[in-house]
Amino acid sequence: MPINNRQIIYANTPSPAIDPSLTNGTFKLNASTIPNNVPTDKILVRAHYLSLDPAMRQWLTAKRSYIAPVERGHVMRGQSIAQVVAVGDSLKTQYKAGDWVIAYSGWQEYATLLPKEAQKVVVPPGCQPTDAMSVLGMTGLTAYFGMMEIGQPRKGDTVVVSGAAGATGMVAGQIAKIQGAKRVVGLAGSADKCEFLRRELGFDAAINYKDADWKKQLKEATPEYIDVFFDNVGGEILDVCLSRAARDSRFVICGAISQYNAKKPTGPASFMNVISQRVTMKGFIVFDFAKKYPAALQNLGTWLAQGKLKRKDHIIKGGLEAAPQGLVNLYEGANTGKMMVEVTPLSEALGGKAKL
Ligand SMILES: NC(=O)c1ccc[n+]([C@@H]2O[C@H](COP(=O)([O-])OP(=O)(O)OC[C@H]3O[C@@H](n4cnc5c(N)ncnc54)[C@H](OP(=O)(O)O)[C@@H]3O)[C@@H](O)[C@H]2O)c1
Repeated sequence: MPINNRQIIYANTPSPAIDPSLTNGTFKLNASTIPNNVPTDKILVRAHYLSLDPAMRQWLTAKRSYIAPVERGHVMRGQSIAQVVAVGDSLKTQYKAGDWVIAYSGWQEYATLLPKEAQKVVVPPGCQPTDAMSVLGMTGLTAYFGMMEIGQPRKGDTVVVSGAAGATGMVAGQIAKIQGAKRVVGLAGSADKCEFLRRELGFDAAINYKDADWKKQLKEATPEYIDVFFDNVGGEILDVCLSRAARDSRFVICGAISQYNAKKPTGPASFMNVISQRVTMKGFIVFDFAKKYPAALQNLGTWLAQGKLKRKDHIIKGGLEAAPQGLVNLYEGANTGKMMVEVTPLSEALGGKAKL
């Protein structure tokens, strides 16, 4: 018997912000079915937790990017933690029902995938299932390579991280601390987030960029200027940090979320400091470092198990249809830590218990 499969389809181009309404908004809900006789070279997976990522806005319209845009009328692109429910004949030595995978499933409850679209998840002792999509997944790896390969914090450095209470930022700041940075300063959008950064993650200072005097606070928190800036935000925050760049500083351009929904993105006015302070400013995409993932995961897993690295998840309940509003809320800063949607609770997993 075919399986009922609800999907979220990219329906209408955002103009420029995403409209989360499922009636005439950016996305629409589609009820379909999926055959349960799986092709020999594929596996059938059921999504449990769907990742929400700032880049999703870019995927809808960006013409020249690191990945082609999602086509209208297609299932929205996205990664999930999913469980294998059936395996094609030629893959029976690689997967079995009940295996957990990081799946390029898109925004749908079930998907039929090739092996390259479903990586088996191995969670080290002391770690938890959702880690595979946050600190031991794409955002953790992004923080790792941005900080270790581009930022390269040294003992005595002052490191500033924007979007610091988000999935990537929280890991980036902690890595800088682990690497011996003298002063790690986080920028985040609420007093609670700043408290989380200082109290729970051990940041030396955290500044709410919505405070009227945040620039003054940043100046006070960076008396020796900024050696490494890990930027998730762009816009005014990048500009102000550039105005505080130290000589030979490294500016890690990871993201520019403040500009993703803008009709006309703006760049920094303080760009001449790049010349006078000999700043290295480098953008990157985490996939550039794919060959080094195993070593990075080993380090991240060890730090996590040792308690040197802490993490937080922000899980949205309400099933698949909660994804569009969740995505809009991500751009509004609703999350502390990694935002994901619970598509199917773990209580419905094969085998009953969530054993990853
Ligand atoms: N280069 C890569 O390979 C790569 C890979 C993954 C992610 N990224 C980038 O990394 C960044 C963080 O991604 P994530 O998945 O970890 O998301 P996230 O940081 O968990 O969530 C996004 C956060 O951005 C902040 N934000 C939203 N609008 C803002 C604005 N106008 N000004 C300042 N802050 C704003 C919000 O926190 P506040 O409350 O603090 O505003 C929100 O919680 C994004 O820019 C993303 O595109 C890059």
